[in-house]
Amino acid sequence: MVHGMTHSRTRISKAVIPAAGLGTRFLPATKATPKEMLPVVDKPAIQYVVEEAVSARLSDVLMITGRNKRPLEDHFDRNYELEEALTRKGDESRLARVRESSDLATIHYVRQGDPRGLGHAVLCAEPHVGDQPFAVLLGDDLIDPRDPLLARMIDVQEQHGGSVIALMEVDPAQIHMYGSAAIVPTGDRDVVRVTDLVEKPDTGQAPSSYAVIGRYVLDPAVFEVLKKTEPGRNGEIQLTDALRELSGRDVHGGPVHGVVFRGRRYDTGDRGDYLRAIVRLACERDDLGPEFRSWLRSYVTEEMQE
Ligand code: UTP
Repeated sequence: MVHGMTHSRTRISKAVIPAAGLGTRFLPATKATPKEMLPVVDKPAIQYVVEEAVSARLSDVLMITGRNKRPLEDHFDRNYELEEALTRKGDESRLARVRESSDLATIHYVRQGDPRGLGHAVLCAEPHVGDQPFAVLLGDDLIDPRDPLLARMIDVQEQHGGSVIALMEVDPAQIHMYGSAAIVPTGDRDVVRVTDLVEKPDTGQAPSSYAVIGRYVLDPAVFEVLKKTEPGRNGEIQLTDALRELSGRDVHGGPVHGVVFRGRRYDTGDRGDYLRAIVRLACERDDLGPEFRSWLRSYVTEEMQE
């Protein structure tokens, strides 16, 4: 391990998945269950996120959990009772599905006592992460596995050093719901240099319609910045505010580059997007798709006649 270097040669291997938010937009479903456990078709949202980390060769996963951590831990642990029952029935395919999540990766857990914001959640990862760059994947943000993003972000971090965020162009009327980035182009079509960031800008104040989405590759210098970051929007310690500080640096955590994502993404913490994710992914499934699609077609036809 090389100490004190911001531009490391060791391939990034650690993924941090914050899943300690209150999920108030989804109450009452999230009263006793983390929103990351809500099923998207038949798998909890968080399992898609862990699968994405694993396919980007991030073998060490740290999950930041909150007061409802039990269901998350249990989901990625063995369930011997269920396995035994399915074995007795000879139900191999369901048995495989039960084991899938516990065989995925080695997952570590740390608790964020008080949900003081995404920045604070990331800061809880410091003792585990140490002094190497690491990835952050938001537990309620789904990136379609056919549109790989994280591997590209890791390449960009290895090429430029500093930190890398994921950006997506959104309707200007929607930008107030996201972090917004001021950007300048680079030689690569999908890579931009980030020069400023504003979390949930007021109308007319957004530097661009490029929105920050839930994937990051961060230099560990972000921890020192987060320790000094005052609560911002909604009284929460915002990761965007710490990244804003890094975007003004050339070393020690900066520069900040953005990878522009043009693929499919769902924010499962938002009810509308959650429903769209389920419909789309169900339609595309080999087992459920054909029947569901034909039902959906007749449902839509009926709706249009009303
Ligand atoms: P959100 O901004 O969606 O906030 O968090 P939230 O509190 O979970 O949900 P709402 O807005 O009340 O419905 C983005 C990600 O950051 C995590 C969440 O779990 C989610 O994956 N997070 C947020 C934390 O881990 N800790 C926090 O203090 C805040």
